[in-house]
Amino acid sequence: MSAAAGTHAQAANRAPAQVPFFDPRRLLAPHDAALQAAFARVLQHAVFVLGPEVAAFEQALASSLGARRAVGVSSGSDALLATFMALRLPTGAEILCTPFTFIASASSIVRAGLRPVFVDLSAEGFLPTAEAFERAWGNRTAGILAVHLYGEPADCDPLAALCKARGGVLIEDCAQAIGARDAQGRSVGLSGRAGTLSFFPAKNLGALGDGGAVFGDDLDLLAAVERLRQHGRAGRDVFSALGGNFRLDALQAALLQVLLPVLPSWIAARQRNAATYLEALRPLHDAERLILPTATPGHAWNQFTLRTPRRDALAQALTAAGIGSAVYYTVPLHRCPALADAMPQAALPHAERAAAEVLSLPVYPGLRADEQARVIEVVQAALAC
Ligand SMILES: Cc1ncc(COP(=O)(O)O)c(C=O)c1O
Repeated sequence: MSAAAGTHAQAANRAPAQVPFFDPRRLLAPHDAALQAAFARVLQHAVFVLGPEVAAFEQALASSLGARRAVGVSSGSDALLATFMALRLPTGAEILCTPFTFIASASSIVRAGLRPVFVDLSAEGFLPTAEAFERAWGNRTAGILAVHLYGEPADCDPLAALCKARGGVLIEDCAQAIGARDAQGRSVGLSGRAGTLSFFPAKNLGALGDGGAVFGDDLDLLAAVERLRQHGRAGRDVFSALGGNFRLDALQAALLQVLLPVLPSWIAARQRNAATYLEALRPLHDAERLILPTATPGHAWNQFTLRTPRRDALAQALTAAGIGSAVYYTVPLHRCPALADAMPQAALPHAERAAAEVLSLPVYPGLRADEQARVIEVVQAALAC
């Protein structure tokens, strides 16, 4: 996950872990020839921005998601920004949002001239409940941004019903959750006006650089996103709204066409790895020591994130054993200085507790069984007493 470029930079300064938290080379190596062929094809036709590669990827993506349309954009952040811009909500309108997510979820709201209002998580989970969103709904609320954090499908039906009843919009940030399915077995992202995706390399479907998409069934909204990704262009020199350069590179689209069909097997491997952790660590599960993540049906496990009051000691034990781990996120967004003007807010205790206790273990499809056994051994030893 991008959780942050900084996280990757810091990781690069450390000695490489014997059990890496994430190593994209292991995922890409079996597809090397197909990726090289896609690269050669783009070099040959030399249409480097948008064009047929992006159109072909958009079609394949929409069909794999069960959506009427997908629009490729430059990143998951720009997918959110373009979506909030395309909605044309009144300046200053409020969007209810979790404080426990990557900054792009909230900064895109601010950058579109809107205001995030943070709603605390449930005591046990990583998402606010529908009741909490309902309690937070105020006079200026224009909708909800639901975030499928760590790949766990948020229950969007009650959120969609709430938005419908109040005349608001539901947008789903699926950056960490491509491959996740809701209770009806549909892809996440289809309950509201649009879903957004990130193809940052550490996501479930990672490009070889940045990329993102907006998808859904609302063709007018997606057409607006398509215009906004080209500065609001509606004709050769006609700009109907102010947008930005949110275009997806043809090269990334060509590479993603190769990797998209592999996604189901990667999700299955993530689910197997998560099930192995859950089974092995269940005996340690108790509120004082270790809280395991909920195996919500349809979870795509972009992260396997446990909670423990002994988080820092556990992270140290893993590092000492040469095992990569990561904390997403150490600072909840209502404590983020860059958002202080947008959203000065009282304490949100569950989000703060999560920020102090979460730790993600390696769960990506390249993790080998012997490596996972070693991770389990170290967690068991560190939390044994
Ligand atoms: C929940 C969430 N939203 C949005 C983004 C932004 O995606 P990108 O890094 O592609 O801009 C991320 C990336 O980490 C994310 O995790």
